[in-house]
Amino acid sequence: RRDPRTMSIASDAQQMIEVARSEGIETVWDRLEAQQPQCGFCVLGVSCRNCAMGPCRVDPFGAGPQKGVCGAGADVIVARNLGRTIAAGSSSHSDHGRDILEVFAATAHGETTGYRIQDVGKLTRLAAELGIPTEDRTTTQVAVDLADRLMDDFGTRRASLSFVERSPKPRQELWDRLGVTPRGIDRENVEMLHRTHMGVDNDPVNILLHGLRTSLADGWGGSMIATELSDIMFGTPSPVMSTVNLGTLKPGWVNIALHGHNPMLSDVIVQAAEDPALVDRARELGAEGINLVGLCCTGNELLMRRGVPMAGNHLMQELAIMTGALEAMVVDYQCIMPSVTDVARCYHTVVISTADKARFPGAVHVSFDPGRGLEIGRDIVSRGVEAFANRNPDRVRIPDEPVEIMAGFSVEAILGALGGTPAPLVEAIADGRIRGAVGVVGCNNPKITQDYGHVTLTRRLIENDILVLVTGCAAVANGKAGQMVPAAASLAGPGLRATCEALGIPPVLHMGSCVDNTRILVLAAALADHLGVDMSQLPLAGAAPEWYSEKAVAIGAYVVASGITTVLGVDPPILGSAAVTGLLTSGLDDVVGAKFAVEADPEKAAVLIRRHIEGKRAALGLPA
Ligand code: SF4
Ligand code: FE2
Repeated sequence: RRDPRTMSIASDAQQMIEVARSEGIETVWDRLEAQQPQCGFCVLGVSCRNCAMGPCRVDPFGAGPQKGVCGAGADVIVARNLGRTIAAGSSSHSDHGRDILEVFAATAHGETTGYRIQDVGKLTRLAAELGIPTEDRTTTQVAVDLADRLMDDFGTRRASLSFVERSPKPRQELWDRLGVTPRGIDRENVEMLHRTHMGVDNDPVNILLHGLRTSLADGWGGSMIATELSDIMFGTPSPVMSTVNLGTLKPGWVNIALHGHNPMLSDVIVQAAEDPALVDRARELGAEGINLVGLCCTGNELLMRRGVPMAGNHLMQELAIMTGALEAMVVDYQCIMPSVTDVARCYHTVVISTADKARFPGAVHVSFDPGRGLEIGRDIVSRGVEAFANRNPDRVRIPDEPVEIMAGFSVEAILGALGGTPAPLVEAIADGRIRGAVGVVGCNNPKITQDYGHVTLTRRLIENDILVLVTGCAAVANGKAGQMVPAAASLAGPGLRATCEALGIPPVLHMGSCVDNTRILVLAAALADHLGVDMSQLPLAGAAPEWYSEKAVAIGAYVVASGITTVLGVDPPILGSAAVTGLLTSGLDDVVGAKFAVEADPEKAAVLIRRHIEGKRAALGLPA
């Protein structure tokens, strides 16, 4: 049997994998093994089932068919598949953004309970940025106009999305020249589905260019709307200390995990969990109190804004239930494995689904309704509390003590720490104390030893005076490894260390959930504008060492389209087309000033990124 140490570097996961084995409960790693060998055609991206003349596949060795029934060769098939993947990822973030926007609009109209405009300052700034009058107007009036304005971004009423204006001018001009400026968020996604229907866009390059436009509609559209409006409604993050790993579950307490991606219900649940009646009921049942923890990005949203402890990242979701100490797992959507209800059946854990668009057979469904937000929040917490009566104390196994983590680095918080301007950061980069910055983002994938990619790459970068910005599961991985507290500055090279110590911050900054990768875009744009250059000229890079999801592909695409070269740790299914692979890993550099690289070994990825950053520094005339 595989050694758990090859499955995860995190000791809480290793211990729980042993528990899973002794209890005979299947995990994601078992299912990956059962799938071996995975389909070689699909791995290379040369299989297609876009129509009923197929399914088809192209023989990568050249002996068998080189065309599908319709005549599509490997290049078109790979490009179409990639285009659809980007559209799925982009749609996921953007639909999340729309859900937030709808609750924001309803809140502006006074139709919700449990929601309010928490950051009036950010509302006013954002409105002013988009040309909405703010003088002598109520918060409500401004919020209603802002909601209307952003609703338009989803449709086809504009030639360009509102937030495109936030990118540096040279980048906007480049996007215009290439014809990839995103118009409507929904429009680009729909158009991608259209183009990839049989017999529409038969030019792989043209499909890929629209792939960039589709991803930009996510990064500078749907995701950015999600981030900005979440800040306005739930508060803009500022540095906060909390804890991370499965040790955040408490033995004698009612433990409720909030899992998924959208903060709109979980934020209300945090309010509901403070209800004295529910806390009293928990005590009546013998618990010490109610303990909320996060999983995945819903967890990141709550950690960033409220310091809610984080139980774990993507591959921890099944293992969290196996602690026997979880009364309820509340899920919204995205990255929630269908298997969680199977695992929960072996324990007393109640899985509570909350989004009508994301149902789970075997879960209790409590339909989200912002008009009754608080009431629903209380109902959900109450179900968790009542489940405590069913807990079997003999099955409770909570591994490890929690590790400290500092989170809450919104762009506002970072600029605030720097005295309100990017100048000190630009100076530190210019004189070489900090060589550059890298966004290490994305998921876990059981094909990679859990957290090894994130933690190793991050460690090597900070050792070499490269500031690391993290989101999503990458942030949780680094947190568990103890790399996200101010004391971790001692792990950094001398320049970065001194800067972090002076500011009292870690060398790895938690910027939020996966939609919050837009914070990295906004920060990159601020740095570029400050220097009067384009983002592609900055000593920046992106990395997704353990990515798995379609959303990660959309993120990678918009980061590259924004001019930031990105290194992937898992092969994307494109290698069956030399033309598409060549374009993405090389040709794109001449088009958007950035490209993809694929490097599974984080040690080598670190070297590659350092070379890239030093190259950008040299081109800007910065000291070696
Ligand atoms: Fe086959 Fe072409 Fe249909 Fe794809 S679109 S399944 S390649 S016939
Ligand atoms: Fe995420």
